[in-house]
Amino acid sequence: MACSVGDDLHSPEPGQFVHLDAKPGLALRRPFSVAGVPVAGTLEFLIELVGEGTRALSALRVGATVSILGPLGRGFTMPPPGVPAVIVAGGAGVAGVRFLAQRLEKREERLTMLVGARDRHHLLHELLPEATPDGRLELRIATDDGSAGLQGTACDLLAQELARIPDEAVVYCCGPRAMTDAAGALALKRGVHCEVSLEEVMACGTGACRGCVVETSDGYRTVCSDGPVFDARALVLESVANA
Ligand SMILES: Cc1cc2nc3c(=O)[nH]c(=O)nc-3n(C[C@H](O)[C@H](O)[C@H](O)COP(=O)(O)OP(=O)(O)OC[C@H]3O[C@@H](n4cnc5c(N)ncnc54)[C@H](O)[C@@H]3O)c2cc1C
Ligand code: FES
Repeated sequence: MACSVGDDLHSPEPGQFVHLDAKPGLALRRPFSVAGVPVAGTLEFLIELVGEGTRALSALRVGATVSILGPLGRGFTMPPPGVPAVIVAGGAGVAGVRFLAQRLEKREERLTMLVGARDRHHLLHELLPEATPDGRLELRIATDDGSAGLQGTACDLLAQELARIPDEAVVYCCGPRAMTDAAGALALKRGVHCEVSLEEVMACGTGACRGCVVETSDGYRTVCSDGPVFDARALVLESVANA
């Protein structure tokens, strides 16, 4: 879905999201990552059909008007010059890192994109960057059933990648919480900086209701305004002990 927006929404950062009023009468807005800014004044979203709100959004006709609150939250930090980046995305988590990948693609440094999906039909190929012949941009795939790429998960790919990247590389991750926890734990064990984007059920989207808190080393923090992107070191990762 693409939306033309007002001036205040012209410059979202990768990792930020907006809160969409999906349908009149729905009590809560729905949060969606900015998946791209194809031209100034237009935002792209990738929306997975889940329930009433996402169905209503998918049924909108061209030219319909939607109330948008945003851009909201803290996005990803860009790596310093000379530092390679690795993006790990699981399932619909591709939506949360697509804009980031577009920004990182424009740098000269190496970018490796690791994508996991249930099977080849769930890979969202059209949203993934294309690998370059010189290896500067590498795309690696994992599927649960082995129908494309490695049979395994995006974290299996990350474990392989961590063995060959330099210490100063940065890892970015978006996907289901179990996956972002596992990816964060692997990166921390290797001593690599890692930023993860979290999804929580949200109400206000602006830090007021405290309905979206997660536990961090610094107490409970809201995903909508302190996140959705967090330094993995600050999160209480369930899989740290098993990584
Ligand atoms: C920061 C952030 C970014 C997101 N970005 C995207 C994106 O780019 N593309 C995309 O398809 N989805 C994204 N999601 C998930 C998306 O918000 C939910 O799938 C959507 O709100 C479901 O609404 P629904 O009415 O269709 O489903 P319902 O099941 O009817 O939703 C009921 C309630 O639960 C909330 N909810 C349900 N699932 C989720 C979820 N996974 N995360 C958070 N809230 C949820 C809804 O906001 C709503 O309040 C994002 C979530 C967050 C928090
Ligand atoms: S949704 Fe209200 S504080 Fe995050």
